[in-house]
Amino acid sequence: MPTETASMFNPASKVSKISHCSSMEQYKQMHDKSLKDPEAFWGEIAKQFHFEEKVRGKFLDYNFDTSKGKIFVRWLEGAKTNICYNCLDRHVLAGKADQVAFYWEGNDPADAEVVTYGELLKDVCRVANVLKAKGVAKGDSVAIYMPMVKQLVVAMLAVARIGAVHSIVFGGYSADSLADRMMDASASVLITADAVWRGAKLIALKEIADEALKLCRAKDLKVKMSLVVKHMDTVTAPQPTSNGTAPGNAAKKTHFDDKGNYKLDGRFHVTGELGPLLDVWWHEVVSAASSECDPVWLDAEDPLFMLYTSGSTGTPKGVLHTIGGYMLYTATTFKYSFDYHPGDIYFCTADIGWITGHSYVTYGPLLNGATSVLFEGVPTYPHIGRFWEIIEKYKVSKFYTAPTAIRTLMKFGDEPVKKYDLSSLAVLGSVGSPSTPEAWLWYYRVVGDSSVSIVDTFWQTETGGHVITPLPGATPCKPGSACFPFFGVEVALLDEEGHEIKGEGEGYLVFCRPWPGMMRTVYGNHQRFETTYFKKFPGFYCTGDGARRDSDGYIWVTGRIDDMLNVSGHLLSTAQVESSLVEHSSVAEAAVVARPHIVKGECLYCFVTLTEGKTYDDKLIAELKVKVRSKIGPFATPDFMQLAPGLPKTRSGKIMRRVLRKIAVGDRDFGDISTLADPSIVEKLFELRPKET
Ligand code: WT7
Repeated sequence: MPTETASMFNPASKVSKISHCSSMEQYKQMHDKSLKDPEAFWGEIAKQFHFEEKVRGKFLDYNFDTSKGKIFVRWLEGAKTNICYNCLDRHVLAGKADQVAFYWEGNDPADAEVVTYGELLKDVCRVANVLKAKGVAKGDSVAIYMPMVKQLVVAMLAVARIGAVHSIVFGGYSADSLADRMMDASASVLITADAVWRGAKLIALKEIADEALKLCRAKDLKVKMSLVVKHMDTVTAPQPTSNGTAPGNAAKKTHFDDKGNYKLDGRFHVTGELGPLLDVWWHEVVSAASSECDPVWLDAEDPLFMLYTSGSTGTPKGVLHTIGGYMLYTATTFKYSFDYHPGDIYFCTADIGWITGHSYVTYGPLLNGATSVLFEGVPTYPHIGRFWEIIEKYKVSKFYTAPTAIRTLMKFGDEPVKKYDLSSLAVLGSVGSPSTPEAWLWYYRVVGDSSVSIVDTFWQTETGGHVITPLPGATPCKPGSACFPFFGVEVALLDEEGHEIKGEGEGYLVFCRPWPGMMRTVYGNHQRFETTYFKKFPGFYCTGDGARRDSDGYIWVTGRIDDMLNVSGHLLSTAQVESSLVEHSSVAEAAVVARPHIVKGECLYCFVTLTEGKTYDDKLIAELKVKVRSKIGPFATPDFMQLAPGLPKTRSGKIMRRVLRKIAVGDRDFGDISTLADPSIVEKLFELRPKET
């Protein structure tokens, strides 16, 4: 570890005077209290929210040990509330109807809209009434397959208002994936849109949704309605670029009529194939519905939503979250991790189709009455400075994105960032994968002008909210470390036999007790919940990640245990090797996988993406090998190195390592690569395999 990356970054001056938690002493005190007396700690927080009925049973009850019976977690027994009421009505009743909830920023910079809390509440009530009229009731599940538009937020809150359960499927998934998820959730309604531009690419959502509905019908799923937002009429299509190419043109030929209108003919109101009339235009029914709708008071432990996440084996798991605990946890993590204060403008770049969007675009910010930017587009359209342009435009103070986005933008150098006034920024967050010290430092210095707090938040779909994170103004950060557990979270590191590693060391990252926002079950498969998370180490929730605790007690998440590799008996994390590769100035991004090796067991196979203008040659290969060797040790010297013009990433930015492992061994049996953002990269990488393999 070079001295620079090991150095501490003190809580930034911009937040330290006013932060909710302003010193490590205060953090420790609050964290201790949250573990010693969860009822007192979370009970105090619960007072900010409206509960129609208070807790009558146990505040917290749980079992984490399969040998003692069924695994369960229950918070706030007997309490009744409604999360939609707490997100909207509570603020409107407090006189904040005119406050902006969202600045919607379209894919094209010309498209923008402002949505207040008052308008949001009325729209939510209208949609809730439409759903009720279709017979959707408490406990029913509603699938949502939408672009990043305000109607997506409206839809999810409307579902929550009437006690139904939302199951949002990211708008980049295929018809098969949508159908699988709808089937698993037994969704009775689908809410979608005609289509959306993402960058210069058209995503024909309704077309895909219809394919999915056909598949559902073939398997006897009774869907009552598909509620369709007409979005294309309201947005600006991609314009021809200066070099004469016209982005989106191919899609325009097939999907638009001569007048430039998006065509849905032959698809809308299809009665033959899809059975009874399913399709209903959102704008027709919603505007006709009443803008008042009483919330349904629900049990704290009633389901709020399910969200599918891939499992290492088999079908995706429907991670189920419940109302009360998730509400307290997303609200509190949002407030402390981003040090949210009234007046802040907050911008999270995640799609609502992922947990980050659920917790930190919709619920966390709205529960705090915050004002956010809701962004439909991508970071590189129409130019590579789009994020920075948006930050300048809205004077964003709190910004939250993924290391993969940071690394992508870092490739273009400092210039595109420096063009914009980013002086409003006070906290920069990151989530999704281990942040390399290099990306962390670039984020801090170039985007944050060395005067912000960086929060590297570790969490999972399953955890509902941040579980390990620094707190702005309190935690002195080390670049690349998620630092310390959030309130209510008790971390342990275990070795293979389940013995706890105290002090310095590396092992399985587990949690010793429940926090309010954790998942309650895998929808329809409680057995799978128990085996996936509790079987390996009875008494602990197992994250599936490895982590290291350093001599100062900082937690460094090293990545999924399944991304660990064993070279001649040395346990290595792929992230560790990747981090040393990207330290070389020619490398923008790296992905490392294990390749079976006859002597070493496994050896390292590295894919490297170069920074603009750099050349890939023998000299560079030699330098990179030396880099890894000197950073980690001779045993970590990569055996194989190959150039990667791009990496096979899912639309959420996760590198699909199983594909890289196949390429590494020269096996074309890639399996399903349909969820990749750009499946064509796989063939390109295969062609670029070095000769000696
Ligand atoms: C996995 C969970 C939580 C929203 C996005 C991903 C990795 C997440 C970090 C971080 C290191 C991280 C872990 C985790 N991860 N955040 N700050 N540092 N690793 O949600 O798809 O459920 O993935 O993402 O490996 O287990 P997810």
